[in-house]
Amino acid sequence: MVFILGMKFPEEFLWGTATSAFQIEMGKGEVDPNSDWYVWVHDEDNIRNGLVSGDLPEKGPGFWELYPEDLKRAKEELGNNAFRMSIDWSRIFPNPTWDIPVKVSFDPYGSVCHVEVSEESMRLLDKRAYQPSVQKYREILTECRRLGLTVLLTLYHWPLPLWIHDPISCRDDIVHATKRGWVDQSTIIEFSKYAAFIAKAFGDLVDIYATINEPMVVSGMGYLYKESGFPPGLGNIDLFIKVSENLAIAHGIAYEQIKRWDHVSSSKYGPAYVGIVHCPQYYEPYDKSSRDDVEAASFVEYIQNEWFLNMILKGDFDLNINRIIDLEEQRPYLAKGCDFIGINYYMRNRIKATESKIPGFPGFEIVPCTENCTDMGWEIYPQGLRYELNWAYKLYRRPLMVTENGIADAKDEKRSDFLLSHIREIYKAIIEDGVPVKGYFHWSLIDNFEWARGFKMRFGLYRVDYETKERTPTKAVQVYKQIATAESSST
Ligand code: BGC
Repeated sequence: MVFILGMKFPEEFLWGTATSAFQIEMGKGEVDPNSDWYVWVHDEDNIRNGLVSGDLPEKGPGFWELYPEDLKRAKEELGNNAFRMSIDWSRIFPNPTWDIPVKVSFDPYGSVCHVEVSEESMRLLDKRAYQPSVQKYREILTECRRLGLTVLLTLYHWPLPLWIHDPISCRDDIVHATKRGWVDQSTIIEFSKYAAFIAKAFGDLVDIYATINEPMVVSGMGYLYKESGFPPGLGNIDLFIKVSENLAIAHGIAYEQIKRWDHVSSSKYGPAYVGIVHCPQYYEPYDKSSRDDVEAASFVEYIQNEWFLNMILKGDFDLNINRIIDLEEQRPYLAKGCDFIGINYYMRNRIKATESKIPGFPGFEIVPCTENCTDMGWEIYPQGLRYELNWAYKLYRRPLMVTENGIADAKDEKRSDFLLSHIREIYKAIIEDGVPVKGYFHWSLIDNFEWARGFKMRFGLYRVDYETKERTPTKAVQVYKQIATAESSST
């Protein structure tokens, strides 16, 4: 145990920051134009319609070249012992891998349930991979190891290669589009090749993996909320369900591939400790005495927080979302494993019932934040983190990591309190409630490209000047350093 500002955290607790490839890499060095997100944020119709900000990722922080100094900051200035980053699929495979053979099995419902990648196919994948990117990611990971930063590597943090997903033709005409991303099971098969390749190519440098970042955001924002600014910008409940289902299957199959292809252990987690990154938020009825609001909040909580984890951890595929698992919805063989659950926690949402737009489902809206709001308009509510950690552990009995938690705060007024108050809640969850939380990754190390909202949202512990690429510490840097280095100062 280590003593920090009145709190005693487990000795081996991981203190880190979280990042994602697309959001930080571009801005210096090789641009990657081969992903759906790249095309999506450049699309003139999307910009004209205000769906995306018009900011462009190639003007970003430039981590691709500047990673040595950023990682040094994480280690020396923040005193961190861990770092969460992702690899962009389109950087590794800018060209299709469709033709590389694998053995695929299907279940009685026609769903992919097993993929076998042979040694020979691995050789072909290695030949197909874009080697300069493989080399660069190896350099970044090697630098992390040299600095003593334990890496949590995310395989899929949103951009899909263009050869898998053409977001514009899907937005305009999904029925006739041919590259339909997660709508089609073929993406699961290609993802399993990619996962196998990553595990083999980087397994000697990585022990902790997250297969997918926030699957419910990919399916919800992309296929349910037309105005979200996320590709492909559709509003279709059937596609939302299909994409969620495919992502759940993809997690399981990627889990198997990583276990099969990474045998090299470099830490106590090794060789392959594989989880998912999920985003349960705290939901509350706007009016606790209104039955409609209570029902709507309970529905949102179920669909956002529980529904996906039930698929990957229990094999309960409640595809008609009626909270009853019919016989054909029981697919335990698809729940292949999840060694830990990553929790991304940001806010409390108050839910108000509205008229239903989708037959069979309650209508609802999120009441806009009025007090304690971040620049994103999200309500700061640290107690919700303790609640979600307890909730996840009680239901799924897996070790947890807080894989994201942070605040858009351009004026740098609230970040220090935000950080400390959320860490206190984690501490209470560990010590008072007995929840096994293994680490905390603050979102984010540096300001970055906040998807549809661009550069205006400043989540970084370091401000980035996008012209000069200069980094300036926010006040929270000292606070985080104090927390993360308490181990050495207390012993
Ligand atoms: C995502 C990040 C994003 C952050 C803030 C999370 O949902 O994983 O990519 O930048 O939230 O919006």
